[in-house]
Amino acid sequence: MASSLVLANIDAGYGAVRVLEDVSLSVGEGETVALLGTNGNGKSTLMKSIMGIVRPSAGRITATIDGVAHELVGRSTEEIVDLGIAFVPEGRRLFPKQTVTENLLLGAYRPTARSAIARNLDFCFETFPRLKERARQLAGSMSGGEQQMLALARALMSSPRILLIDEPSVGLAPLLVKRTIDKIKELKEGFNLTVLMAEQNFTQAVRIADRGYVIVHGRIAFEGESAEALNNNELIREFYLGA
Ligand SMILES: Nc1ncnc2c1ncn2[C@@H]1O[C@H](COP(=O)(O)OP(=O)(O)OP(=O)(O)O)[C@@H](O)[C@H]1O
Ligand SMILES: [Mg+2]
Repeated sequence: MASSLVLANIDAGYGAVRVLEDVSLSVGEGETVALLGTNGNGKSTLMKSIMGIVRPSAGRITATIDGVAHELVGRSTEEIVDLGIAFVPEGRRLFPKQTVTENLLLGAYRPTARSAIARNLDFCFETFPRLKERARQLAGSMSGGEQQMLALARALMSSPRILLIDEPSVGLAPLLVKRTIDKIKELKEGFNLTVLMAEQNFTQAVRIADRGYVIVHGRIAFEGESAEALNNNELIREFYLGA
């Protein structure tokens, strides 16, 4: 059933600091959409606005989950997760003193995910064999790449329909970035997810994105209807590809 996300005319910021201005974007059923932008342009603020961590001062955010529309602005983060939206925050935010398995179980607090714990855990261990091998290792002692896999797996433990991923490539070596991005594509297909991914790594993000948006100073500066349109865009050439 259809799960999608629509942001309409969002303004958001921190106290008197306005970061997002009139941001509108959408992620359609089964799409992978990239939110591209360099440091400080508002990618994380946009993700946090969707998750109810930052409260927009104007605009609407509508998530349709399995065919039912829900307005997100004004809801708590917990309610938003309960609806079926999972978030992999920038810098992973794992519980470093808890084991791999404990971190995964903490991802399953959503009521509808509780009955699926055993199945989801099996799936995570099957998808990420390294996590199975390291099930009892403390999360904080895993390598950066392993921690990113754990953060992705933890998000899947909530049986989400929509997955938001904030800069999965941060702090990873090029080969690991590529593997992580490939994994996101595999998970999206395996779980039938709708994905919004914030990235600075244009080349890697565009490999798996159906389309994308470029955010500059808190505004959507360009909307590319395909990976090709993004590749050919002047703004992107200028900012990312050094052309
Ligand atoms: N808690 C906060 N309080 C005040 N200003 C903030 C806060 N968090 C972010 N900002 C400001 O909001 C702007 C956008 O930050 P944001 O984290 O959304 O950017 P980003 O695109 O995710 O950047 P990066 O790629 O570095 O993660 C920046 O100017 C930042 O300083
Ligand atoms: Mg960020």
